[in-house]
Amino acid sequence: MWLIKIFSVCFLLIALEGQSQTIEQLTAGNKTSIRGLSVVNDRVIWASGSGGYIARSVDGGKNFEWQKLSGYEKTDFRDIEAFDENTAIIMGIASPGILLKTVDGGKNWKKVYEDSSKEVFMDAMDFYTEKEGIVIGDPVNGKMYMVTTSDKGESWQKTIPLTSQPGLSEGEAFFASSGTNLRITAAGKKGMNFLLVTGGKKSRIFNQNFQQDSLPIMQGGESTGANSIAYLAAINRAVVVGGDFSKPDIATNNCVLVNTAKGFGFSRPQTPPHGYRSCVIYLSPHQLLTCGTTGVDLSNDGGENWELLTKDSYHVCSKAKNGKAVFLAGANGRIAKLVQ
Ligand SMILES: *[C@@H]1O[C@H](CO)[C@@H](O)[C@H](O)[C@H]1NC(C)=O
Repeated sequence: MWLIKIFSVCFLLIALEGQSQTIEQLTAGNKTSIRGLSVVNDRVIWASGSGGYIARSVDGGKNFEWQKLSGYEKTDFRDIEAFDENTAIIMGIASPGILLKTVDGGKNWKKVYEDSSKEVFMDAMDFYTEKEGIVIGDPVNGKMYMVTTSDKGESWQKTIPLTSQPGLSEGEAFFASSGTNLRITAAGKKGMNFLLVTGGKKSRIFNQNFQQDSLPIMQGGESTGANSIAYLAAINRAVVVGGDFSKPDIATNNCVLVNTAKGFGFSRPQTPPHGYRSCVIYLSPHQLLTCGTTGVDLSNDGGENWELLTKDSYHVCSKAKNGKAVFLAGANGRIAKLVQ
């Protein structure tokens, strides 16, 4: 009898194991490090990377159309925001910092913003609706670089007064590792609400009123700190990931759970992700995915415990805005799908 019980427990475990998520690589080989990824729905996926590369799929990732944007062969497009199969905005980080927009599926790209000052380094872009967006960049004269749009990215302005900003400390900046250290949380007549996280000598979380707090995450070095924040308004929670990208195997002090109901309430997970992580997203109120150069982890309990899905390296992950599909992307033109 006990033997039968042991066997059935084993079978149950195998059955559960069989249901767990896997990561299926869809494409690889193009000479680009992808850090920009935007999934519109289960069918339409856009990605952007170094070397002026952009990829688009309109069939759920079965086929990708690649382009190396001429005139931008040296530009690192570290973030992309797509709205449908025709419309997307890409962010080139520096020299010049540049924003390009297409409305015809990538055939033509129009320059909608350019800043050629040599201290400009753009790190992340986020949109609330198709209309309202923000780009953040490393501090210039000690203040965060911020430009906003309220017309679908057609024009960008410095609307957030520098005087309202406390500024960043020496050696504190943003990591441009996945374009997700900024999340717009709401938008209305008074402007946009957001959360953003810094890294480096200091790693802090800020909101739109520049209320801030030090994150209980690795910090103090050049490559330490928060890289990404995921936020879910419905449950008033955020999750921050990071670590030390120059020591990516360190699997402690790399994740913070944030209660945003009243100020910032921090806790640490029981089982943190298994290394440095550059991107985190919510799949549902309980389920989260995080990825980095040493692997991909999934949590089924709001970020308390993380299970390693693969040791394969990915820089960025993104869930369909209108759909269930989840994709990942990384070095060497790699794009993959989370099979659920
Ligand atoms: C990207 O890789 C695919 C598959 O290897 C290849 O057919 C295509 O020409 C590459 N695109 C560019 C722009 O390099």
